[in-house]
Amino acid sequence: MGIISIGLSIRKDEIMIDIITHSSKETQDLGYRLGTLLKEGDIVCLVGDLGAGKTTLTQSIAKGLGVEDYVTSPTFTLINEYSGRHMLYHFDLYRLNSVDEIYDLGYEEYFFSQGVCVIEWADILQENLPLERLNIFIERDKEDHDRKILISGAGNRYREIIEELKK
Ligand SMILES: Nc1ncnc2c1ncn2[C@@H]1O[C@H](COP(=O)(O)OP(=O)(O)O)[C@@H](O)[C@H]1O
Ligand SMILES: [Mg+2]
Repeated sequence: MGIISIGLSIRKDEIMIDIITHSSKETQDLGYRLGTLLKEGDIVCLVGDLGAGKTTLTQSIAKGLGVEDYVTSPTFTLINEYSGRHMLYHFDLYRLNSVDEIYDLGYEEYFFSQGVCVIEWADILQENLPLERLNIFIERDKEDHDRKILISGAGNRYREIIEELKK
């Protein structure tokens, strides 16, 4: 297992996959594959520093979900919505001032909606996140092109996705 400083706790019953990508293209290929596997109600939490590749991954997840619009990080809002095979709710919590702000947005309604939620800086929400979710930790290597990507999840649904990604 690669050494990743994790901002979210991983439960004992989670299964994991550890991947190293050597270019943005490889990260995009992973995101696209993941996007094709996602179904309504899925929650994907992205954790990693600025420039780690969270938005890059989200853009390719969106493509895999059949979103045709270009996905950019929400600048003035915390959540952008896109339609694809399922709705995609892209959260970027970088500018979140307090957890109250996200309560005001009614974020739980998004989590329990028919859409797919992808959340950049998900570690800010900590225990406010659903227990069953896909966690993706991205760490930049000293060589700027390599990324260590650890994907973990609990619950049948997320195990199924991870098993599929292992193939
Ligand atoms: N292996 C890689 N995976 C993802 N991005 C990479 C990789 N190598 C270089 N990059 C570059 O790193 C940057 C990641 O930026 P971005 O996705 O906006 O990060 P974040 O949203 O985590 O702040 C992009 O410019 C991307 O092209
Ligand atoms: Mg980003």
